[in-house]
Amino acid sequence: MTGRSIFALMLALAASSLATPPASAADGDPAAGKALFERTCENCHAVVIGVNKVGPSLWNVLDRKPAAVPDFAYSEAMKANKQPWTVAALDAYLADPRGDVHGVKMFFKGLPNPADRANVIAYLERLK
Ligand code: HEC
Repeated sequence: MTGRSIFALMLALAASSLATPPASAADGDPAAGKALFERTCENCHAVVIGVNKVGPSLWNVLDRKPAAVPDFAYSEAMKANKQPWTVAALDAYLADPRGDVHGVKMFFKGLPNPADRANVIAYLERLK
């Protein structure tokens, strides 16, 4: 990870805590994010509209309300989560999916490397 992307991540976190519009994940590498997604997320998540697997479709997830996919049986914790999926919210969730307020239904240990998270978020941002 470059110093610049660390700075961007800090900006994204700062921006979300000030409730200003979310920063973009443009500093992540969407191609690397796609490869990582196919290795680590695709078993549970489709990226096309209306296809739910073990997890909900992640099409157009950026800035979407949590638990918004119809016909997916979300956990109570996810349904109670009102914070939209901004870059910063996704970053926090993917760092530790089972450790924060979102609940434990996503049986995935998370992505400890900030560069991996920036890349996969950059990929998700392009799913529209
Ligand atoms: C073992 C299966 C599994 C894996 C692997 C997995 N997820 Fe999930 N994911 C889930 C489940 C199940 C939920 C629903 C969680 C809930 O309802 O609490 C979920 C929820 C989510 C949500 C919230 C969606 C919404 O509609 O609110 C996002 C974003 C997400 N996952 C991203 C990812 C990403 C990115 C990866 C890979 C880095 C990943 N997940 C890997 C199963 C998985």
